[in-house]
Amino acid sequence: MTATSILAVSGLAKCFGGLQAIDDLSFEVAPRTVHAIIGPNGAGKTTLLNLLTGIYHPDAGRVMLAGRDVTGLPTHLWATAGLGRTFQNLQIFFNMSALDNVMVGRHLRERCDLLASLLRTPALVRSERACRASARELMHRVGLDAWLDARADSMPYGALKRLEIARALALEPQVLLLDEPAAGLNQTEAREIDALIRELAAGGMTVLLVEHNMRLVMEVSDRVLVLDRGTKLAEGTPAEVARDERVIEAYLGVADAESTEVVDA
Ligand SMILES: Nc1ncnc2c1ncn2[C@@H]1O[C@H](COP(=O)(O)OP(=O)(O)O)[C@@H](O)[C@H]1O
Ligand SMILES: [Mg+2]
Repeated sequence: MTATSILAVSGLAKCFGGLQAIDDLSFEVAPRTVHAIIGPNGAGKTTLLNLLTGIYHPDAGRVMLAGRDVTGLPTHLWATAGLGRTFQNLQIFFNMSALDNVMVGRHLRERCDLLASLLRTPALVRSERACRASARELMHRVGLDAWLDARADSMPYGALKRLEIARALALEPQVLLLDEPAAGLNQTEAREIDALIRELAAGGMTVLLVEHNMRLVMEVSDRVLVLDRGTKLAEGTPAEVARDERVIEAYLGVADAESTEVVDA
């Protein structure tokens, strides 16, 4: 791990039955940057995030976060380890309010004091109030002011994608992992997510952005890693990657018209 990286992955591998989903993968993420992982469906992007957040245990390799070895850390610990994430398929508690969904993130962050919560001590009441205030602030930060008092099940899909980002931010992560944050959004909503990611990065957040949408990646990323069948096909600035022969052949060759358009531009 070089002194300048906040996240360093080396020799990571994960096999499902006979399928090598992640194959000897190494890369590093510099702090306060947006680092994109792109690749076609099935390339191993979500598996990579699952390995980074302890949902899967790697067969081999190492994950270092801010100099600490977090390889295979159990799921209940990754939240406090400094990685916040959103999911490709929304993981929202629909029977709760939007605000409570964000507060779940905060509660994962703070150690729960069982005795204090049984006794409802003044300190606990104060901390709940502070927690609620910071959850509201996070909802404001991701542009959800209109939904402060809403139930999660009344919110449109685009707002729910933002709600997940707010909940991940509530963990005060050192690195924010976003799994296809623009998937299923229309073009306007996708551009808004794009702007939000940029704002977060400008505010000093390190973002690992997993995307299928080439256009979003080109506009917001400092560096891009192209994943193909679990291995690194190319890595560089968006411009470098977009003119890489192997990328054009292997990834863009099968991409949709919109993605191809970006490269032509
Ligand atoms: N839990 C699992 N069990 C078996 N195979 C899996 C599992 N998760 C992912 N895979 C397989 O690993 C490969 C990579 O999947 P995934 O990481 O979801 O790709 P991506 O997110 O890039 O679309 C695919 O072939 C997928 O079918
Ligand atoms: Mg995926």
